[in-house]
Amino acid sequence: MKPDDKTPPKNSSYWDERFNEAGFAYGEAPNAFLRAACENIPAGDALSLCEGEGRNAVYLALRGFRVTAVDFSAVGLAKAEALAARHGVTITTVLADLADFDLGVQRWDLVTAIFAQPASATRQRLYSSLQQGLRPGGAFILEAKVEAHATANDRYPGAAILTQEIAPLSIALAQEQSHELNEGRYHVGLHDTVQILAFKHHAL
Ligand SMILES: C[S@@+](CC[C@H](N)C(=O)[O-])C[C@H]1O[C@@H](n2cnc3c(N)ncnc32)[C@H](O)[C@@H]1O
Repeated sequence: MKPDDKTPPKNSSYWDERFNEAGFAYGEAPNAFLRAACENIPAGDALSLCEGEGRNAVYLALRGFRVTAVDFSAVGLAKAEALAARHGVTITTVLADLADFDLGVQRWDLVTAIFAQPASATRQRLYSSLQQGLRPGGAFILEAKVEAHATANDRYPGAAILTQEIAPLSIALAQEQSHELNEGRYHVGLHDTVQILAFKHHAL
C-alpha cells in the first residue's frame, strides 16, 4: 500500500468475517454491468479478480467460460465453490493476495474486476499487465466505486485514471454514474461507480 492511499484496504480477516455472515453479502445474482458487458463476448478462459462469494464466476461458468476466481478470502472462495456446485458448474479457485498475483502471458480471454479495490500500487501493477495477460481480442470488464477527487494513489479513482492504467487496451466504454445498486445486503441504494469495457487489439 502506498502511504497516500486515502482509504487503506481491508485485510483478508475482515472479508472472511463478512462472508461468514449468513447469506450472500452481494447477492447470488451477477453484477448487472458484467452481465450486460459480456453479452457478446465469446466463451473462453476467464479470470475473476477479487471474486468474493462466487456470484460473477458462477454466472460466467454458466455462460460457458472456464473460470478462475482469485480472492484472498478462504471463506468467500469456499462459498463460491458451493454456489458453483449448486448450479452444476465447475470453477477453479485460487486463494491469493492480488499483491502477489501474476496475470501470466496471453492466458485470458476475459479478465473481470467487479468491485475489486485493492491498494493502488497493486491495482496499477496488475492493470498495467492486462495487455500482456490477455489474448488478442480479449476483454476487460470493470465496475468499481468512485470517490470524488481520488488520485491515482487512491483506491477509488474514476474513469480518466483507470483508462490510463489499463493502456494500451482499447476502450469500448468508460463511464461514471450515480446509480442504484441492489446487490445483496451491502450494495443497496445510490452509488457512484465507474464502468469500463476494454479490449486488447487483435494481432494484425
Ligand atoms: C467488495 S468485495 C467484492 C466481491 C465480488 N467481486 C462481488 O462483486 O461480489 C471485495 C473482494 O475483494 C477481495 N480482496 C480485497 N483485497 C484483495 C487482495 N489484495 N487480494 C485478493 N482479494 C482481495 C475481498 O476478499 C472481497 O472478496
